[in-house]
Amino acid sequence: MCTPTPGLRSVMVLLAAALVSTSVTSGEGWREEGVQYGQVGADVVLSCAGAPGRSGVEWWRDGAAALPEGCILRDGDLLLPQAELAAGGDYSCHDGTGQLLCSVSLRLGYLPGIPSVTCRASDYENFSCSWTPSVETFLPTRYITTYRTQTSQVGPCVQDPGRPHTCSVHKCEFWSSYRLNVTEVNPLGSSFRLLDVTMQAIIKPDPPEGLVVEPVPSAPRRLRVRWQYPASWPKQPHFQLKFRLQYRPVAHGSWSMVETVNLSEVITDAFSGLEHVVQVGAKDFLDAGNWSEWSAEARATPGPGLTVTPGDEAITNAGLESPAEMPSLAPNPEPIDRSDPMEKVAILISLGIFSFFILALVLGITIAVWLRLRKPSKDETKKHDFLAAAVHMRALPKPQIL
Ligand SMILES: *[C@@H]1O[C@H](CO)[C@@H](O)[C@H](O)[C@H]1NC(C)=O
Ligand SMILES: *[C@@H]1O[C@H](CO)[C@@H](O)[C@H](O)[C@H]1NC(C)=O
Repeated sequence: MCTPTPGLRSVMVLLAAALVSTSVTSGEGWREEGVQYGQVGADVVLSCAGAPGRSGVEWWRDGAAALPEGCILRDGDLLLPQAELAAGGDYSCHDGTGQLLCSVSLRLGYLPGIPSVTCRASDYENFSCSWTPSVETFLPTRYITTYRTQTSQVGPCVQDPGRPHTCSVHKCEFWSSYRLNVTEVNPLGSSFRLLDVTMQAIIKPDPPEGLVVEPVPSAPRRLRVRWQYPASWPKQPHFQLKFRLQYRPVAHGSWSMVETVNLSEVITDAFSGLEHVVQVGAKDFLDAGNWSEWSAEARATPGPGLTVTPGDEAITNAGLESPAEMPSLAPNPEPIDRSDPMEKVAILISLGIFSFFILALVLGITIAVWLRLRKPSKDETKKHDFLAAAVHMRALPKPQIL
């Protein structure tokens, strides 16, 4: 339970909603024999435990009689008004003969500041948070990290001594909200930050792995690309990933992009004979959270015609460590999608459907007009026959009718 998932190592982190709170109370549980903590800027009193209220007491600092400027001796106590950070050290009080009466180690510092906290989930069950102190306190510090759910369930955000300033919450419910409390505590007091975390807001998969790009024989403009789920994302029917691919000729600056739910894709608009670089990223299938970092690069050159050039062996570099923390040279090309091949296909299809409808319409009108032109002549002949018959009947003499 206490070990963090390996997928949570990425430094990049994202926030849900932040709630800032702080409270400062007097520190407890820092009692150490012979150590006294004090706040920089406050008045600090060192009392000579061996000789309370006694005069004729001498104070030394770090074994010498030189004391910080501005300090005052009062009834055997040493008063340091508005103590400066540099006034810390090992103090000792002595009687008139130089005999040691007591010694105290003074440690000066500051109250804890409110830590800044960021949280990230790289799978759909666990999230981890890391924090940075906002104040250098110069004092021993520890952190209390807990969470509370909407249903008032309280639990620890587990800290791993191997990874300071980080804690993890395991076996989370994807749709629940967690209110995280990171409290910084030192001998002078404490300070906490609250952060509302929901998995669907902070989820950010690790990059897909095992990216492979290959030329397609006898298709000079095509590249076949395949990849795998990140190992930190156990595959489950309810929690799938979708992917996006970015690719460009190595020598060109702008990326083309295509989205897919599959684990492979064929690029159809590559440039024959030019080496291309390809990367893939992942996001929750239902669009929760954020896109992963880009995967490691893979390169390939679409071959001209049937023959595959020798340069095409440089196909993959799968299995490299994910470059999550590398500054990406490419601008984050999220909503640009300038030359999305899917879009082109969609436009072609809709054009086709449109022209089909126009054709059908023209055909329909032609048939209708043709029918219109034919019908009256038929009716007319019928009418003629009928009239002729009627006239004929009327023209007959009555006895013949009866
Ligand atoms: C969440 O963390 C636990 C403990 O580290 C691990 O066993 C589990 O596989 C993780 N869940 C997912 C979905 O990765
Ligand atoms: C946060 O945690 C600290 C330490 O456990 C506690 O003193 C404080 O009351 C908590 N704050 C809230 C708002 O729960």
